[in-house]
Amino acid sequence: MVAPRPSRRSLVHRKQTSSTTSTWTGARLLSHPTFLAAVVEEQKQIVKKYGDQIDYSILLEMETLHCCIKVLRMHPPTASLFRKVHKSFIVNTKEGTQYEIPKGHTIASPMLFNNNIPSIFKDPGVYDPTRFRPGREEDKAGGKFCFTVFGGGRHSCLGEAYAYMQIKVIWSHLLRNFELELVSPFPEMDWSKIMPVPKGKVMVTYKRRSVPST
Ligand code: HEM
Repeated sequence: MVAPRPSRRSLVHRKQTSSTTSTWTGARLLSHPTFLAAVVEEQKQIVKKYGDQIDYSILLEMETLHCCIKVLRMHPPTASLFRKVHKSFIVNTKEGTQYEIPKGHTIASPMLFNNNIPSIFKDPGVYDPTRFRPGREEDKAGGKFCFTVFGGGRHSCLGEAYAYMQIKVIWSHLLRNFELELVSPFPEMDWSKIMPVPKGKVMVTYKRRSVPST
């Protein structure tokens, strides 16, 4: 039996979402020394505990880095998700208004707007990965559809766990081995692309370092 070949669109999705999210994760961290120090410290603790050999279960322990990858809230993979309505339904708003959503219509769920609702994400304009830590978990506190950067429902992203793993492998390696400094201005988002990538180049200087393993 021959396995079906993945479409070009799906290959682009896998590569571009992960590489763009890695870039935003780095650009934000390198612009926020306190959070950068926290992720480097996490790497030191991991190296102290396990040495230099990283496996999947160790990546799962990198909670601070995991929260930083949720930079996706500010830099989502797309502005909106779309769904075709197969069955009419009613939406009741918090304010008490009712809307009927008729069968056959297309619904847009504006991710960019949803990720910035102040009643769910405190001070939404602020980069603060600790909002995702246990105790706050703002991405879960507002219900299962309040943080849809990986989509939602039946067609949500099949690569979510893999994407976190990939990005953690990249950043864990960089943080352990290099002192990095962002030397270009923090990039604007380029909205001319389906997935908003950084506009222009993101320039970083690097110096080798080794996170001590004892
Ligand atoms: C940071 C990285 C990624 C982000 C932000 C992301 C985000 C998304 C989003 C928003 C959707 C649409 C979901 C929906 O309409 O509800 C999606 C679909 C999908 N993603 Fe990802 N993705 C990422 C990486 C990956 C990777 C690495 C893979 C595969 C290895 C992957 C495989 C898929 C597949 C197969 C679908 C289609 C699911 C379906 O239609 O049933 N994604 N992704």
